[in-house]
Amino acid sequence: MEYRDHSLYLEDTPLADIARREGTPCYVYSRTAILDRFQAYHQAFGDVPHKVCYAVKANANLAILKLLADAGAGFDIVSGGELFRVLQAGADPGTVIFSGVGKTSQELDYALDHTIRSFNCESEPELVLIDALASRRGVQARVALRVNPDVDAATHPYISTGLREHKFGIDMAEAEAVYGRALALGNLVLDGVSCHIGSQIVDIAPMLEVFDKMIALVKRLRARGIPIRTLDLGGGLGVAYKPGDQAPSICEFIQAMCQRTAGHGLEILIEPGRSIVAEAGLLLTRVLYRKTNGDRQFVIVDAAMNDLIRPALYQSHHEIVPLRESQAGAITADVVGPVCESGDFLARDREIANVMPGDLLAVCTAGAYGFVSASNYNGRPRPPEILVEGDRFRVIRKREKYEDLIRGE
Ligand code: LLP
Repeated sequence: MEYRDHSLYLEDTPLADIARREGTPCYVYSRTAILDRFQAYHQAFGDVPHKVCYAVKANANLAILKLLADAGAGFDIVSGGELFRVLQAGADPGTVIFSGVGKTSQELDYALDHTIRSFNCESEPELVLIDALASRRGVQARVALRVNPDVDAATHPYISTGLREHKFGIDMAEAEAVYGRALALGNLVLDGVSCHIGSQIVDIAPMLEVFDKMIALVKRLRARGIPIRTLDLGGGLGVAYKPGDQAPSICEFIQAMCQRTAGHGLEILIEPGRSIVAEAGLLLTRVLYRKTNGDRQFVIVDAAMNDLIRPALYQSHHEIVPLRESQAGAITADVVGPVCESGDFLARDREIANVMPGDLLAVCTAGAYGFVSASNYNGRPRPPEILVEGDRFRVIRKREKYEDLIRGE
């Protein structure tokens, strides 16, 4: 994204052209930015056997899944619905891993029907259920136990997952015993271990500690005769949301990962979501009104918490920049939407450009966990999604209509 002649461009497309043709609010993604980040992951592995399994939950649009599948990505899914999307995008189910603490037998059956690559199991009863379902089909299901390494990811508490107090994974101290018992289940192929300690992790020291713990676990399991071949190290790499933020580079992170895991004959799987799509996307919105309550200034825009819930839910920061660069100075204001809740804000007490009604704004770094978490709250149709490629753009999901709001009622 850059200003050319005072007008904000994504790749070679003026964002104002998109707003004019498709209206606001709308999500816009850069094809190049997504592919660059996927390639950064892929290439950093060099000749280490690996698969980058994109975490579908971050942005599940079919066009983006197809883009990544064509580039050679695998997929990390957490529901039958995400598997359906991946299949609709034309991806190979043999590249899909299924994570999540609460897979239903219907979802497991669906995944077995399509012979996905493997299941990341999070409890012993789940192992038993997968074994039973696989046995009914006369097939072998490949599984990895997701272990909980009890390491603090030092991120927002809602997206931290690697401590013993969290619902995720199987306690590392129990893992060997669980593998031992699972050997008795005849329809499982137990050749992997996995972990994921949280999201938006910007200090990679806790991740490196986890990698060491996982290698130690692999050695212990192998010593017990369990032939571990794949190590899934999850997702979680953070991105810079604020201008001065320091986010680790994908390349350095993967190199540090490979240094710690090399020489053990393991295939490495990773499940990045945010670090592939967050910076590639933005939410376009138009200023509706300006007003002042007491000494607080408000910029009321046409996007709201139903479109992008991250500021309300995680107090997250998204830069907000005008599409037209001007000399009109800056103001300090709350940028808020039309939803009837005080939690409906995109920014609080923020220094932003001195914009006026009708002006367009880009809410940055919104490509991950943006549209996927959008809702129809307050009777608001969800925004369209648009993919930019060079100087062209296309709608990859239409704006919802009022009829869509009542479908199924
Ligand atoms: N693998 C597993 C098992 C996960 O639970 C997650 C994210 C990922 C991979 C991908 O993590 P990433 O690379 O994207 O950090 N809605 C929140 C983020 C929730 C993350 C949930 N799990 C947000 O907007 O910040």
